[in-house]
Amino acid sequence: MKFQALVLSALAAVAWAVPAPAAPAIKHKRNSPPLPSEDPFYSIPDNIHSYAPGAIIDHRAPPAAIAAFGTDKINIAGSWQIRYRTTDNVGNATQTVLTVLIPNNADFNKVLSYQVAEDAASINCGPSYALQLQAATGGLLGTIVTEAELLLIEAALYQGWVVILPDHEGPSGAYLANRLAGQATLDGIRAALASTSFTGIQGDAKVTMWGYSGGSLASAWAAVLQPRYAPDLSDNIVGAAIGGTVPNINNVINTINDTPFAGIIPAGMMGLASQYPVVAQAIDEHVLPEDKDKFEKVTQQCFVPDILDFLLDSNVKAMVDNQSLWTQPDIQKILQDNSLAYESAPPSSIPLYVYKSVFDEISPIADTDNLVKAYCSAGSRVTYTRDLASEHASLAAIGAPMAIAWLIDRMDGKAAASSCSTTTKLSSLFDIATIEVLPSFLFDALEALLGGNIGPTFFG
Ligand SMILES: *[C@@H]1O[C@H](CO)[C@@H](O)[C@H](O)[C@H]1NC(C)=O
Ligand SMILES: *[C@@H]1O[C@H](CO)[C@@H](O)[C@H](O)[C@H]1NC(C)=O
Repeated sequence: MKFQALVLSALAAVAWAVPAPAAPAIKHKRNSPPLPSEDPFYSIPDNIHSYAPGAIIDHRAPPAAIAAFGTDKINIAGSWQIRYRTTDNVGNATQTVLTVLIPNNADFNKVLSYQVAEDAASINCGPSYALQLQAATGGLLGTIVTEAELLLIEAALYQGWVVILPDHEGPSGAYLANRLAGQATLDGIRAALASTSFTGIQGDAKVTMWGYSGGSLASAWAAVLQPRYAPDLSDNIVGAAIGGTVPNINNVINTINDTPFAGIIPAGMMGLASQYPVVAQAIDEHVLPEDKDKFEKVTQQCFVPDILDFLLDSNVKAMVDNQSLWTQPDIQKILQDNSLAYESAPPSSIPLYVYKSVFDEISPIADTDNLVKAYCSAGSRVTYTRDLASEHASLAAIGAPMAIAWLIDRMDGKAAASSCSTTTKLSSLFDIATIEVLPSFLFDALEALLGGNIGPTFFG
């Protein structure tokens, strides 16, 4: 099958590319749509303060068709880009861009807000750009994760749901600025519900949210912030599926430093630097001169090159001249302010499906066990699946069918469980009830993802 072959060859290429020479910065390709950094649609209007959060500023058809891996056009009825006002991590008005995908035979009363795992510190890696035909990929296969996620998005479109994808890192690629991510997700939902005149989405549509890893951060923060930031959405949002959860940033840094995932650390630091001057100053003053260029380069490329650049030289914590930086109170406070472990629980009106690999090598399972416990004592409703036959990357695919099955029930109006439950499974993939929810071509493609030599760099 063509699509399956593409997935396989793309992922095999990632595996073979290791170790690769440093990838060049994101460059405009001859046939590419304009990069967000060079496209006026992405520049913040001077009067941004005059818009209410979630208000639509403008909309257009995407400059190029939506396509998997930049080449394989997907078969949908329509697509839109909406730019809308949101609020950044420090409370300032800003804007970001929403992609709206309308399936054939759409049910305009059902909307899935899918948050991708962009995990990069550049606006040019955002899904509104990465999902287009001939998009530049921010370095060798830089946005392959976002593009592979299009498989999961296709599974949702196959249900007839309208799928919306916010560029939840905002206009400066603020990776790990998780309040912004949550607010951009909520405002994207507001904008979608207000777009009836051109998208057809009903103003009172039912909305669910879904995301894995970096996408779970945006989705979970949206759930947590909803009662305070978007009380008007209380009747719309009926659930959130979050997988590969990362509740505690400091613990992630300590877990992935000096491992193949270490390149996530500089991307996160540069992402936070765009919102917190104290982080920018710390990088400026304390990153060792010989490592400075590599740090700066993550703002010019996407996830995979970030991982590759720090693959062989992965002790990122040793790349600063004063180790106190990692424990100093002002930096710790910022990491805590963006960690779910230090925030309140989501409301019981947004039931959660949480799935997590017991052997997750990016964020230890204990952090998610503790988060779920805290949520349940606070009155949240959590269905928690712990998966044994997986690790962080593979559970993105292995865990997807059960997540979709759970989302289908919420969209269909079935009541979520009234109390919390935790199950440890050998594998979430071959659960008979969930196989039926996926069209066979997607099931084949998911299996292909898992069968290929994906390597540790697949999902960050
Ligand atoms: C937020 O707004 C304040 C006041 O206008 C400004 O000083 C600050 O630089 C802004 N912060 C960011 C991250 O844009
Ligand atoms: C390292 O930074 C801490 C503050 O975070 C400071 O107290 C200490 O003096 C610094 N050490 C050196 C050798 O500069």
